Amino acid sequence: MPLNDCRIIELPKITDPRGNLTFVEGGNHVPFDFRRAYYLYDVPGGSDRGAHAHRNLHQFVIAMSGSFDVVLDDGHDRRRFHMNRSYYGLYVCPMMWRTLDNFSSGAVCLVLASEHYDPADYIRDHDEFLRLAGQRRQAVE
Ligand code: TYD
Repeated sequence: MPLNDCRIIELPKITDPRGNLTFVEGGNHVPFDFRRAYYLYDVPGGSDRGAHAHRNLHQFVIAMSGSFDVVLDDGHDRRRFHMNRSYYGLYVCPMMWRTLDNFSSGAVCLVLASEHYDPADYIRDHDEFLRLAGQRRQAVE
């Protein structure tokens, strides 16, 4: 899938003097149903996370608190997204090499994922990723 399919999605925000509320519905606000949520927290300053791709997994990344950057690379193009609002999420489609960095102190990164955890879905070798991404690109061209 090309990098252009990955995008920032603005979620509903119910503003209220008692505190704001945002919600997200699978298949409605994000273009897949989710079966898993996980979150990154207590990330030490200067740490990077990610540095892998997924063969089939769809993900949606939200900065619940604080800020961080997500760098997406489809093997051809690269984009950096700065995440710093709890009502914005980044849709990450399959076959994207992703790195998360630039975490602020106290940042919490929530990820909604289309499937349960499956180590076989990971591509952790960057050369293998480039080879597979190139094959997919040729197949659709
Ligand atoms: P990993 O996905 O490599 O983390 P990141 O991309 O954020 O750097 O996962 C780190 C470890 O956590 C790895 O040993 C697998 C485990 N893990 C699970 O057991 N279940 C999960 O849902 C996730 C996301 C990771």
